[in-house]
Amino acid sequence: MFERFSKDSNDAVSLLKRDHDTVKELFDDFEKAEQRAAKKKIVAKALTELKVHAALEEEIFYPAVRAELDHDVMNEADEEHHVAKVLIAELEKMTGKEDHYDAKFTVLAENVRHHIKEEESEMLPKAKRLPIDFDALGARMMERKEELLANGIPAVAEDRVADPKADSPARAAAKKKRVVKRKTA
Ligand SMILES: [Fe+2]
Repeated sequence: MFERFSKDSNDAVSLLKRDHDTVKELFDDFEKAEQRAAKKKIVAKALTELKVHAALEEEIFYPAVRAELDHDVMNEADEEHHVAKVLIAELEKMTGKEDHYDAKFTVLAENVRHHIKEEESEMLPKAKRLPIDFDALGARMMERKEELLANGIPAVAEDRVADPKADSPARAAAKKKRVVKRKTA
């Protein structure tokens, strides 16, 4: 049996931290990748990881700790998940060739890196002190993860609002440029 909260333990906190390390590695890989195909592959992998991770936190971990933790910290985490889900939904509707594709993924990575930092420095250390059976919680999370990977991740509200032509900031910028040109012509 591994010691609780150690690197190899399957308690809920350690599982979340291992997931964090996986996505951070994917973000680093994306920064190093040069080929379009390689970038797209990394993005696809990262989006799946993030969607599963967010579902596990929202369905299982957050409800287990929310009542005992700082209201503001939990609310900020919710909002960071929301922003991430908007960007994930837009990226999923893109082909990878759009002008803003890389920028969108980079902003997602920055948002998630910040979120991870807050969870690991504020939320998780406080959660660890709560009288919760983290092994049982971790077992539930692992079971749910397998289920999500096998049967698919349920749609989220953010999927519905994502622009099908999600390169919208780029298109808006181009439109603006055209207007300015016309004015100065
Ligand atoms: Fe999270």
